[in-house]
Amino acid sequence: MDNQNTALNTKKKASFTGSLGFVLAAAGSAVGLGNIWRFPYLAAKHGGGLFILVYIILALTFGFALLTTDIAIGRKTGKSALQAYGALSKKWGFLGALSFIVPAIILTYYSVVGGWITKYAADYIINDTSVMAKDGYFTSFITSNISPIVFTFIFLAVTAVIVFFGVEKGIEKFSKFVMPGLLVLIIGIAIFSLTLSHTENGVTRNGLDGLARYFVPDFSKVTLSSFFQLLLDATGQLFYSLSVAMGIMITYGSYVKKDVNLSKSVSQIEIFDTAVAILSGLMIVPTVFIFSGEAGLENSGAGLMFVALPKVFEAMGVIGKYVGITFFIMVIFAALTSSVSIMETIVASCMGFFKTTRKKTSLIIAAIFATASVVICLGYNVLYFELTLPNGAVGQLLDVMDYLSNSVLMPIISLLTCILIGWILKPKSIIEEMEVGGVRFKKKTLYIAIVKYIAPVMLALILAQALGITNLLLK
Ligand code: PHE
Repeated sequence: MDNQNTALNTKKKASFTGSLGFVLAAAGSAVGLGNIWRFPYLAAKHGGGLFILVYIILALTFGFALLTTDIAIGRKTGKSALQAYGALSKKWGFLGALSFIVPAIILTYYSVVGGWITKYAADYIINDTSVMAKDGYFTSFITSNISPIVFTFIFLAVTAVIVFFGVEKGIEKFSKFVMPGLLVLIIGIAIFSLTLSHTENGVTRNGLDGLARYFVPDFSKVTLSSFFQLLLDATGQLFYSLSVAMGIMITYGSYVKKDVNLSKSVSQIEIFDTAVAILSGLMIVPTVFIFSGEAGLENSGAGLMFVALPKVFEAMGVIGKYVGITFFIMVIFAALTSSVSIMETIVASCMGFFKTTRKKTSLIIAAIFATASVVICLGYNVLYFELTLPNGAVGQLLDVMDYLSNSVLMPIISLLTCILIGWILKPKSIIEEMEVGGVRFKKKTLYIAIVKYIAPVMLALILAQALGITNLLLK
């Protein structure tokens, strides 16, 4: 009987086969639209080099501490987000519920953006590059009635299938296949983009000019307030990019076996994520600069990937079509491994809560989020509205969801997690987990300093910025 029970338990507890599977799945979650789309835009906005330098320093300190905390909480408790905080401390169970809300909000719109990318990839295969480069193409697509919904469903369906197959056969297998390929593609396109040159109105810009625009800081424009803004942008970006503070890394951490060296894995995930962000910038910023100059780079956010790049691909001539196809397929993969991690976190939490099977839960969750994402799609036509958010940005439904999850809830959760770990349970609760099996946790002192003092201050600042408080101070 005992044997039978143990057999049943081992069978039930899903896990990654080893450290490589875990690192690639976690890197798959971390590497996503944030790296390929947001990082290049922020780096360009802040003049390049200085932003990259600050980002790397933050990744090695702040990012390292937050990622370590999430993953260690997961492995220590063996539970997914919704239940993990309660297992650490009964009183703090509410934090689990709070961190469950974040992926639930994110999935509603991440699948919509995933749908846009899928549509672009399909378009590059079918159409001529000039079609997507036309002014107004992007807007007319996202405001149309049916097409965005159809592509969102396709993207969501693929995500659900991977989650349906589970941790080892679905997520790990997919990540092991996709992540190395992604890295090769990004390096390939980045190198290729540096061989380009373009002449417009008598001005020729080549790869070297593009490289300089991306890496060489322009100190003449740096002021105290612009540096403060850079710092906040870099911290916020890092935070989002590492997929921390939303239960995802807790859930993935709970699938890691006790013999895996967590310190090493955390470093590898961070290096992977940061390398892809910097390489994505290398692939996008110089190219857009070569073909469209400073004006092209000013096309912020959505514009950079869906408006500026298609113009670049068109300017490339015949090869543009193939670069476009390769680029958007690569982005689909990056976005899929992220959306899988978001859905997995929701599914795993619900399985734990309702005691249901994975297959049934995945199907129900997929149906619920298909419905929710239709509402987000409609936010561009039937349900269109514009709202000025407290941080000064103007947005419609999708932006409001993004603001709530990333700018408000994530810093709150992270701040509370730092208080719980740094001051109530004490950092030793995490350090113990990092040292399981006699592994030495080398950055122990740094970890303690960050979790107790540095991270809470930075998180409070990010939150203040999101709520519009720093805007008042900077004025
Ligand atoms: N970290 C991912 C990125 O950089 C985004 C993400 C957000 C992934 C939320 C999962 C959950 O794009």
